[in-house]
Amino acid sequence: MSYTNKVIHSGYFNDTLRQWQCQNTQITSLNLMYPIFILDEKDVREEIKSMPGIYRQGLNHIKAMLDPVVESGLKSILIFGVINKLSKDQYGTHADSFENPVIQALPLLKEWYPNLVIACDVCLCPYSSDGHCGIIENKQIDNVKSIKRIGEIALSYALAALVSADIVAPSCMMDGHVTAIKQSLMKENLLSRVSVLSYSAKFCSVFYGPFRDAANCAPSFSNRSSYQIPVGSSSIAERVVDRDISESCDMTMVKPGMMYLDVVRKVKDKHPNIPIFIYQVSGEYAMLYHAAQAGVIQLKEGLIEILRSMRRAGGDVIVTYYTPEILKWLKDVL
Ligand code: PBG
Ligand code: ZN
Repeated sequence: MSYTNKVIHSGYFNDTLRQWQCQNTQITSLNLMYPIFILDEKDVREEIKSMPGIYRQGLNHIKAMLDPVVESGLKSILIFGVINKLSKDQYGTHADSFENPVIQALPLLKEWYPNLVIACDVCLCPYSSDGHCGIIENKQIDNVKSIKRIGEIALSYALAALVSADIVAPSCMMDGHVTAIKQSLMKENLLSRVSVLSYSAKFCSVFYGPFRDAANCAPSFSNRSSYQIPVGSSSIAERVVDRDISESCDMTMVKPGMMYLDVVRKVKDKHPNIPIFIYQVSGEYAMLYHAAQAGVIQLKEGLIEILRSMRRAGGDVIVTYYTPEILKWLKDVL
């Protein structure tokens, strides 16, 4: 019995050696996407109670908020519109009206930050009177009407910026949403100029709670279980990802993050050639925030461990509300 061929410690006794053993789990600015909330009231800026440190703000506050983050290397953002004053109706009329905060912000964002990649969340729930992600008829989702409307909204975001939004990101979980969007992009000859990032494996999670406060989009009756994936089902997640990829989505997503890393690994193994996004959702943000506040976990170390685990599971880009903090730490390799 020889001991010399049992030694593994010899491979990672200093920082550089340790980094070599962590292939493809590094975090750089390319691995981060920053979600922001844009309000329909231009001068208002309010902290989201259930997400301390995160604000929703009107157009007049956006530049001051983003300038320092872009300065520290931000590569991409994900925009959510939030309406307080505009009216809501069954068809989410204000999802793509001229007064919609995203439609108003896009040309300015493009002008201020020509190299920043801009993704727009596409959904009905922030704009529909019932708070559901599709169109409701007789208390049920009407999927055909829903995807037609989702295609229209995605197209208006694509057209709103002078050059067009770079990415449209349907989060509605309607069947066929990728095809509906691709077809509407084709009508304006935008197919090869706009990417579709599909929130494919979106589970029916309680960890979206704080976001629903932030985006003012909780369903007024029932819940989202007829379209979001049952928590215990990796088979449905796999089928949805396969379908969205077969419909030519450019990037796919698993959401929430930490509790679904087994799904990320499965998707990555099956589809190694398509970028996988992981959404570290509002409830994961809040959980870590409060654990750090209580002195139970150090924020920086805890977050780096989570991000590394997400990369190890196969995630390429992590959508996280902590992006500004992480970018500040990036001068040390994470
Ligand atoms: C709505 C939407 C949700 C999130 C992104 N888009 C919530 C939901 O589906 O209920 C969650 C984001 C988060 O919790 O941070 N289409
Ligand atoms: Zn929605």
